[in-house]
Amino acid sequence: MDSWENLKKECALCSRCPLGETRTKLVFGTGVESASILFVGEGPGEQEDLQGEPFVGPAGNLLDDMLEIIDLSRKTNVYIANIVKCRPPKNRDPKPEEAAACREWLQRQIDLVQPKLIVCLGRIAATHLIRDDFRITREHGQWFDVSGIPCTAIYHPSALLRDESKRPETFVDLIAIRSKIRELCPEVYSGSAL
Ligand code: URA
Repeated sequence: MDSWENLKKECALCSRCPLGETRTKLVFGTGVESASILFVGEGPGEQEDLQGEPFVGPAGNLLDDMLEIIDLSRKTNVYIANIVKCRPPKNRDPKPEEAAACREWLQRQIDLVQPKLIVCLGRIAATHLIRDDFRITREHGQWFDVSGIPCTAIYHPSALLRDESKRPETFVDLIAIRSKIRELCPEVYSGSAL
């Protein structure tokens, strides 16, 4: 049987793609390892690469604010991972072969967390988890079945920093995610005022 300890050890030794040669720190994932909700981003940026933790730069601060709107946080009830664990140089999109090389680590994280819901952060995560021609502008907020787990995608926090006009739609998506959590993960809000 797999364990977090084994997975972290094996992932730390990974040399399956060249991203490991240019990164500073591997960014494995963070949050509650038995969370009902898994958020998946694209890959580490500059701050994440330096600190070894996902979403700690400007996009991470916005993500934390977005989570707080629906009473979620990486400290209490979600797990956060990325499609690739090492920073692509100059924050370019991960190449398909890099995402494929990293896929086993994400799959094992999914199998260990056993989330009831998955939320993709941005188009890149959605193209790898939901469908390779996923259109974030048209399909954000919709629900898809990913190996039996309900999965949705919202705009990436970096996109919301670049283009504030997308924020109202994302607010609507977050409220819909809250409804889905109430429906499928009642334990998350038990005892909360929301
Ligand atoms: N953007 C991502 O997609 N992931 C991170 O961890 C940080 C920024």
